[in-house]
Amino acid sequence: MILIPAIALIRQIGAGRAFSPFSIPLTEGGGERVAWMVSLGSLLHSNTGWALLALVAGHIAMAAVHHAVWKDQALSRMKGRNNRIHMSDLQPAE
Ligand code: HEM
Repeated sequence: MILIPAIALIRQIGAGRAFSPFSIPLTEGGGERVAWMVSLGSLLHSNTGWALLALVAGHIAMAAVHHAVWKDQALSRMKGRNNRIHMSDLQPAE
């Protein structure tokens, strides 16, 4: 989640283009073109972006399987602090 926009920013700056998200000018364009920065971004940004989407989709799908098929507490634990397992919830081993 940090790597993907970082790689895109490296390419943006390396290509000598300005970076102004929502019209907020964060970097100026017009600088020198740096070939390795552009190649790195072109090689990795799209692939890592799609890989992240696949991981997010897989995570959602498996959370649904835990909840609907295996009916365990994985989804509740993901929801956070108030849903942690307490020692008193655990059954002693037989
Ligand atoms: C978490 C943040 C980001 C994600 C998940 C993401 C994901 C992606 C993906 C999946 C593509 C490929 C689309 C295709 O295959 O047609 C893409 C393309 C692109 N992204 Fe991003 N992006 C992110 C942030 C950024 C940022 C911050 C910039 C600009 C500085 C940027 C600039 C671009 C550009 C120019 C393209 C088109 C060229 C290419 O396919 O490499 N992205 N992005």
